[in-house]
Amino acid sequence: MKLCIVGTGYVGLVSAACFSEMGNDVTCVDVNPEVVRRLERGEAHIYEPGLDSLVQRNFKDGRLHFTTDLAIGLDNADLVFICVGTPADEDGSCDLSHVEAVARQIGQTMQKELVVVDKSTVPVGTADRVRAIIVEELIKRSLKLPFDVVSNPEFLKEGDAINDFMKPDRVVVGTHNERSARLLREIYAPFAHSRDKLIVMGVRSAEMTKYAANCMLATKISFINEIATLCEKVGANVRDVRAGIGSDRRIGYHFIYPGMGYGGSCFPKDVKALIHTAREAGIHPELLEAVEAVNVRQKRGMAVRIREYFAPQGGVEGKTLALWGLAFKANTDDMRDAASLSVIEDLTSHGMRIRAFDPIAAHNAAKILADNYMVEIADSQYEACRGAHALLVVTEWNQFRNPDFDRIRSLLIAPLLFDGRNLYSPERMGERGFAYFCVGLGEAQK
Ligand SMILES: NC(=O)c1ccc[n+]([C@@H]2O[C@H](COP(=O)([O-])OP(=O)(O)OC[C@H]3O[C@@H](n4cnc5c(N)ncnc54)[C@H](O)[C@@H]3O)[C@@H](O)[C@H]2O)c1
Repeated sequence: MKLCIVGTGYVGLVSAACFSEMGNDVTCVDVNPEVVRRLERGEAHIYEPGLDSLVQRNFKDGRLHFTTDLAIGLDNADLVFICVGTPADEDGSCDLSHVEAVARQIGQTMQKELVVVDKSTVPVGTADRVRAIIVEELIKRSLKLPFDVVSNPEFLKEGDAINDFMKPDRVVVGTHNERSARLLREIYAPFAHSRDKLIVMGVRSAEMTKYAANCMLATKISFINEIATLCEKVGANVRDVRAGIGSDRRIGYHFIYPGMGYGGSCFPKDVKALIHTAREAGIHPELLEAVEAVNVRQKRGMAVRIREYFAPQGGVEGKTLALWGLAFKANTDDMRDAASLSVIEDLTSHGMRIRAFDPIAAHNAAKILADNYMVEIADSQYEACRGAHALLVVTEWNQFRNPDFDRIRSLLIAPLLFDGRNLYSPERMGERGFAYFCVGLGEAQK
């Protein structure tokens, strides 16, 4: 089938690479000419494991094309996927300006019958808005072309996006149009060998499903983080509590790891957007507000703990912190709403210097932190430790899981480790001579 994908970020480029891998002819359209130039050279402009080779192979085989011109992308396309960003606006609502701009361009450019598929995460009612914009533009052109707007939210997660796209748990399709549903079933069939994974529903339900899924996951994270905070106060161990509750099949082990709160390009903005939707609908979203408040507190939690630790020693001013991991989670270069940024903002505003290392996100982080002269990016995880007063682990990269602790101890001014991801065993760290602080461990457990 001939497909057009608009927006070649984490969702658009992964979708395009996977659809072209299955033999479809896919043209990617992006407004950013630099992104298109790099893709044409076979370089993915984002980091996602396995993506480079998939893009290069399909580009070389002529099934994957890149352009800044939507008219080229829509030429003979059966379906167009909108995969542009939907960031949070200042009031927390979803900023639909990119989606609306694409809808307008589609209306100005389409030449034949088309199925417009919205893959971006968008509030309920957006498909109607997209439809209205396209109609408005077609009227201006005195054209009456048949088209449908379908909601097909994406559930991939960065860091494992190819796997998620290739083997999805489900594919949600929101449409009342049988032809559209048939087309979507056809292009997703290669990704659903084992069983029928397509769940067809109304457009509004599909739009809501994406927010409900992300908010449910964010709720699990805030829940376990709240329990972890409580464990610290009452002398319990959240690792044991997690094992104890996760073994209940109704609860499960997934997404109940205590840590530094959720970040990234989706959960924070999607929780905010659903709160906004609820308020507009006249509902007070008490649970979602609490999920967000707990998360904001959790993201700064380690910074507060570090300040409290150094308070009897004259505070953090003039001291240096080695910080491991800048990306919002492992296996991505994405810095959007990363916990590292909250910690850095808090500690540098109190005069602490940060020497940070990240194996993949360092480049993106350096751009974001360019104005903060208190932050230095180190070339290696050990270099970050040289002469620092403490080490804080923020992101759970594999290379941080079993480091050379003797080397760390020899490089730090004092053997002091704050672990925001619970990567190490408190007993072993004690044996190694470290003062060790992790998440959710009460005094009685240390
Ligand atoms: N990143 C994720 O893990 C993830 C997962 C599921 C769903 N989503 C949702 O998917 C959508 C896209 O997210 P993303 O992380 O891929 O975004 P992104 O910011 O990585 O990429 C968006 C791309 O769209 C391009 N763009 C913007 N306006 C355009 C226009 N008018 N025409 C053509 N290109 C345009 C940008 O240049 C950019 O390359 C969002 O709604 C997001 O919430 C993201």
